[in-house]
Amino acid sequence: MFKYNCLNPIAKVGLERFTDNYKATDNISEADGVLVRSASMHEMELPESLLAIARAGAGVNNIPLDKCAEKGIVVFNTPGANANGVKELTIAGLLLASRDVIGGVNWVSSAKDDENIAKTAEKEKKKFAGTEIQDKKLGIIGLGAIGVKVANVAKNLGMEVWGYDPYVSVDAAWNLSRDVKHVLNVDDIYANCDYITIHVPLLDSTKGFISEEAIGKMKDGVIILNFARDLLVDEAAVLKAIKAGKVRKYVSDFPNATTAGQDGCIVIPHLGASTEESEDNCAKMAVKELIEYLENGNVINSVNYPTVDMGPCTDNARVAVLSKNIPGTINKFSAVFADLNINISDFTNKSKGEYAYTLMDVEAKITDELIAKLKEVDGVIRVRVVKN
Ligand code: MLT
Repeated sequence: MFKYNCLNPIAKVGLERFTDNYKATDNISEADGVLVRSASMHEMELPESLLAIARAGAGVNNIPLDKCAEKGIVVFNTPGANANGVKELTIAGLLLASRDVIGGVNWVSSAKDDENIAKTAEKEKKKFAGTEIQDKKLGIIGLGAIGVKVANVAKNLGMEVWGYDPYVSVDAAWNLSRDVKHVLNVDDIYANCDYITIHVPLLDSTKGFISEEAIGKMKDGVIILNFARDLLVDEAAVLKAIKAGKVRKYVSDFPNATTAGQDGCIVIPHLGASTEESEDNCAKMAVKELIEYLENGNVINSVNYPTVDMGPCTDNARVAVLSKNIPGTINKFSAVFADLNINISDFTNKSKGEYAYTLMDVEAKITDELIAKLKEVDGVIRVRVVKN
C-alpha cells in the first residue's frame, strides 16, 4: 500500500488512476508520494519516508530540487501536458497587446447607462484602435513544448516567426514549422522582432534573461510577452522602457507588486494552464509518473534525477540506488553483489548532473545485508527495494 498527499487540488481524472493499492493522506509525514501544483515547498520539512514529488505542471520553481535530490526524493514535472493551454493564452496576449480590447470593453461597461451607446461608441472607438499581427515579426526565446506550439500557430496567423533556443531537442525540432527562422544569436531577435515572447524554465542561469541591456537592443515599440515566469524578465527595466516609449506593452501571466495596475502592462492572474484540459492532462501525467516510480522504480520526466526505464520487473527482485554521480560507483555496486554471490540479471545506471540513479533486477531475494552494504558505498543517498 502506498500513500500520497496532495498539496493542491489535483484533477479527479488523474487521481482516479490510483488503484486500491493507494491511499490519500493529509499528513505529508506518512506519504510516499506528493502531488503539487503551485504550493511552495521551499520552507517545508520533507520527511525521510518521502520518495517522490510530482508537479502537475511544467515550472518547478516552487520545489527545492537540490534539497530533494540530496534526500533521495525524485521530483517529476509534466512537460507538454499544459502546453496547449499556455499557447492559447499567449496568442490571446499577442492580440490583447495589439488592440485595446480590454480598454474598449471597460469603456462599454462604463457607458452602460448611455441610451445612445451605439452612436457614442462609433465616436469613441478610435481611442481603442490598434495594429494587426499579420506580417509582423514574432521572436520566440525557448523552443520547448510551448514555444514550438506558439511558433506554429503564429506562423499560421501570418506572422514571420524567429526562434532562438541553443538547447532545442530533436523532438521539438521535428514539430517546429520549417518556416520558422532559426536564429543562433538572441540579439538578432532583439534587433528585428516586433513581438518577443519567452518560454524558458526559470533557473539560476535564466533569471533576468530579458535584462535592461537586452531591452536596450530591442526595436522601439516592441511588445514583450511573458507566460513563463516573472523573474525571467527585469520588470523594473520594462516599466522604465514603457515610460520612455521603448516598449509598447508588456504582457505577463504573473501578477506582482511591480507590474500590477501599471500603465502599459497587461497582467493576467497566472491563467496559462488554467483550463479543464490542461489540469486534467497534468494530473493524469503526474499520477502516471508517480505510479511508475513507486511500483516499478522507473524515472520518467524527472527534473533532478536521470531518466531510467526498465519496464516492469520480470525477475524476483528489483533494487534502486540513488547516489551522487561519482566515478567508479558502478564497480562498487557490482562488487557488493559479487561478494554476496547474488546475480544481477538486468541493470541500468544513468546520471544527471551531480546525481545518479541505478536500477538492478536480481535473481535472489534482496537481504538486509545487501541493502546495508549498498548503503556503505561512497555517495549513496538512498537504497530502495522496489520488488522483493
Ligand atoms: C506551468 O508551470 O506549468 C504553468 O505555469 C502553469 C502552472 O504553474 O500550473
